[in-house]
Amino acid sequence: MSTSRKPQGGTTRRGFLSAAGGAALAAGAIRPAVSAGPENLPPNVPGWSRYLGSGVDAYPYGQPSSFESHVVRRNVAWLTASVESSVNFTPLHELDGIITPNGLCFERHHAGIAEVDPSDYRLMINGLVDKPMIFTLDDIKRFPRTNKIFFLECAANSGMEWRGAQLNGCQFTHGMVHCVMYTGVPLKLILEEAGLKTNAKWLMVEGADAAGMNRSVPLDKALDDCMVAFKMNGEALRPEQGYPLRLVVPGWEGNMWIKWLRRIEVGDQPWHTREETSKYTDLLENGKSRRFTWAMDCKSVITSPSPQAPLLHKGHNILSGIAWSGRGTVDRVDVTLDGGRNWRPARIDGPSFDKAVHRFYFEFDWQGESLLLQSRAIDSTGYVQPTKDELRAVRGTNSIYHNNGIQTWHVRGNGEVENVEVS
Ligand code: CO
Repeated sequence: MSTSRKPQGGTTRRGFLSAAGGAALAAGAIRPAVSAGPENLPPNVPGWSRYLGSGVDAYPYGQPSSFESHVVRRNVAWLTASVESSVNFTPLHELDGIITPNGLCFERHHAGIAEVDPSDYRLMINGLVDKPMIFTLDDIKRFPRTNKIFFLECAANSGMEWRGAQLNGCQFTHGMVHCVMYTGVPLKLILEEAGLKTNAKWLMVEGADAAGMNRSVPLDKALDDCMVAFKMNGEALRPEQGYPLRLVVPGWEGNMWIKWLRRIEVGDQPWHTREETSKYTDLLENGKSRRFTWAMDCKSVITSPSPQAPLLHKGHNILSGIAWSGRGTVDRVDVTLDGGRNWRPARIDGPSFDKAVHRFYFEFDWQGESLLLQSRAIDSTGYVQPTKDELRAVRGTNSIYHNNGIQTWHVRGNGEVENVEVS
């Protein structure tokens, strides 16, 4: 075993807490001031039991506890050349279960957040159809609806890790994934309304953002499980997730899930747009590129312990993480504490949905020894999540996309955790 490369970027948990302190005080102005201290501990009556709390008019739209104000999306300064064409990351280390809260779903924009007035919203369908159509949002909402839970992962998630351990926190190494329940309409029903010509084979889906973000989608996928969604986790899509309507392309890379969806053109061949030629293709060692690498391969990560969530107690501890596959369910997750010498099955807990995040747990005893934590997911097709070295042997190190290699966290004797690689 050798650990390599000192991780760069990210922030320590201690940094988060001190950075959040000022914000917590400001946001908590409505709450009566209750100072932390032994006077709040049993058998005393704590401060928060001595006063009336805030009323039902305090938060018309509910907010997390001010004590949770450090749980936010964060970006990485050196990855953020311009905020309108950039990314932030889901705080995976602070979450549990399988659903990502709407306000914590990572963002990736090519030209900032389009602000679309729903009364002026239209979805146009043209090309190889019997009757070109323009739908209002109300038109879309009169189609039969469906509710589905899916993960969405950016093709570049973990992309900074191709050449070695870089970012110190699963928020930054793996935080370009989220999982929510979508309410919407099967795309098949909308395409059938327009009527597909017999030579229809591909769709060009286009967003209403200033980038006109677009991709080619094969018709088979569109008719299989794609949706147009107007709600996430029961409420309207957030603006940064494509309000009022986005495309849902289950299991496939996030850039195809066109936000602010404004047009679908039906054709007989792919369009070879910028986003599937110069971008979102995977440059190999020999200079050739893989293209149309749509499905997100089976992947997992331990979210706690992790660099932002160090071990705080000796003795009994809970390890937790998430796993997902763009090709089905996750059937099994194995965990190792010693860098891959011994693997033990983790316990998957909670619902197991096709192309959705799965939650796993592993209980272990820790007495201050150094640990090398890894998780390895196996999906319903039998595919086993590879090591980073296995991936590099096939794909080289030029690419930034589709890195689903096994992540290693090094736990030190003092409980601190760092991003490393074992070889
Ligand atoms: Co791809």
